[in-house]
Amino acid sequence: MAKPARFPFRMVLGAGAVTCLLTASSAAAQTPPAAAADSGIPVTDTAVQKACSPCHRPDDKGVMSRISGRRTTPEGWERTITRMMALNNLKIDAQTARAVVKSLANSHGLAPEEARPGLYEVQRRLGDEEFKSDALNGTCDACHSLGRIITQRRTKPEWDLLISMHRGWYPIIDRQTFRRMGPAPRGRDAQGRPPDLRHPSEKAVDFLSDTFPLETKDWSGWTASMRPARIDGTWTLSGWEVSKGPIYGKVVLTPVAGAADEFTNTTTYTYARTGEQVSRTGRVTIYTGFQWRGRTTVGGADTTALREVMFVEPDWNAIEGRWFAGGYDELGIDVKLQRAGAGLTVVGMDHTALKTGGTGQTLKIYVANAPASVAARDLDFGPGVTVSAATVASDVITATVDVAAGAAIGPRALVVGGTAKPGAITVYDKVDGIRVTPTWNMSRVGGVVFPKMFARFDAWAFNNGPDKKPNTDDDLRLDAVVAQWSLEEYKATFEDEDLKFVGAIDAASGIFTPNVEGPNPQRKGERNNMGDVWAVASYTPPGATTPLKGRAHLLVTAPLYMKFDPTVTP
Ligand code: HEC
Ligand code: HEC
Repeated sequence: MAKPARFPFRMVLGAGAVTCLLTASSAAAQTPPAAAADSGIPVTDTAVQKACSPCHRPDDKGVMSRISGRRTTPEGWERTITRMMALNNLKIDAQTARAVVKSLANSHGLAPEEARPGLYEVQRRLGDEEFKSDALNGTCDACHSLGRIITQRRTKPEWDLLISMHRGWYPIIDRQTFRRMGPAPRGRDAQGRPPDLRHPSEKAVDFLSDTFPLETKDWSGWTASMRPARIDGTWTLSGWEVSKGPIYGKVVLTPVAGAADEFTNTTTYTYARTGEQVSRTGRVTIYTGFQWRGRTTVGGADTTALREVMFVEPDWNAIEGRWFAGGYDELGIDVKLQRAGAGLTVVGMDHTALKTGGTGQTLKIYVANAPASVAARDLDFGPGVTVSAATVASDVITATVDVAAGAAIGPRALVVGGTAKPGAITVYDKVDGIRVTPTWNMSRVGGVVFPKMFARFDAWAFNNGPDKKPNTDDDLRLDAVVAQWSLEEYKATFEDEDLKFVGAIDAASGIFTPNVEGPNPQRKGERNNMGDVWAVASYTPPGATTPLKGRAHLLVTAPLYMKFDPTVTP
């Protein structure tokens, strides 16, 4: 990826502003604070002390200014260290930087319960943020995600200094969001309370100090018994890649000698829709006892690399997360790993919907620990569905079934070898409609200096359910179908002819490739190639004559011209 411009902010700022952020806090660390909670968590790792102490001096208990008063994810620490390098002149080599990130993520990290609500942030998922707070509205959500904030825990003085950091480095912020710009509120509110005269940034700090404090029960509970996760062995993999469908396979983890929290990783999987097989190898580190951060490639080729960000459940039986790549981390696979165990287990199916009145329908069932042979009687789909044949080869059971015309529609359990998988199968009589997911999507023009951000879609078949009405609770989601894709104008601006400029969607796969960035002399007013369109899926069910259609809003917008993340990488 091309390098975005370095921070223009640097020139605005006098070194004085920054020095005072440091001395203010070192002074705070030296004078005993009123509440014990403010003193922070000591740093006992001498490697961290050595790397950071030139500027963050430890006191006699190992409490280091600015560092001891906060906890965050490995990404949070990584970002801080890159910021220290880019803006504060920290000199550190890559190996030491990695060791410091790991050490701090373990000693000043998050507990599983604390990390869970911020998973979308570290897994780089696109979507609306669920976390909402009036205290942060318009103040902290103006420039970056709230995810960056809810993955941090700090003392009150540290939340205060974070505000000072923003003001020191980005002085314009006061005019943008941190100060109340209009007249001060007057009079009492509806409940008879005096007006709230705090600045937006003060409101935010009060809220953050209460909601995300340094010391919590979750963290003290987790650290009291934190240990390396014993996850070596074989795991079944089930996944979903948007526009490519379900993926099944397995992951084998082998401990790295001398490191209790590192594993090598051999992954093999099959795209059920096409039969395409993939083998990947790589390495994983488990931070704070549960945060999986890995990287795998196909045969070592960097162009095939996927970053893996997953959550190891504290029971060590399931691991869930996202593997991703792309200029904006937008090309991802949702992945779930389950311990393979010893007996036959169903991992997933190539499709899940069976039509009433259809004979000879086949279903591929991906399993772990497959028996040497299977018979029709080993499978049970419930009343109205008869299994006429079953075969097994390389962990895939292929069942041939007949579904009676009058079989009850709705979800039902699939029983394989005596174990039920509730709701695994859906019997339906008719495809009533098509819906596109995600319901809105974003793409960024690029390809000249900045990367393109691609957008991908799935089209799902739906049945109206027993009430025969669309968009009600009993609607049945059937399978993702292979639709024909096209774009339609989304009327936001008159005569802007977005369709001609924004880019193209692949008719067969539903993958949208945006046009290049920059002014376009062919477009009226030399505008950029940005705009709004509909991504439209068209699908004709077998036996039907008219196609069913579904659509989603696609916003094709500007590249991230300015990346706030500093661009140096250790
Ligand atoms: C060369 C001096 C220097 C070194 C070395 C240094 N820092 Fe900093 N650090 C600063 C300054 C100056 C600030 C205050 C201004 C700022 O936040 O950018 C700061 C602020 C911070 C903050 C508070 C930022 C926030 O989010 O509010 C953290 C955390 C931090 N440093 C961590 C580290 C760690 C970890 C190391 C060691 C790997 C380190 N620093 C090494 C100079 C340094
Ligand atoms: C004007 C844009 C802007 C606004 C508004 C803003 N931030 Fe930031 N924030 C930044 C930038 C730029 C960075 C530093 C660049 C980086 O490290 O990625 C940053 C960094 C951070 C970090 C990471 C700091 C570190 O070193 O770990 C946190 C946490 C944060 N902001 C919280 C907040 C909170 C809380 C608010 C509201 C009070 C807020 N931000 C409002 C632009 C903004």
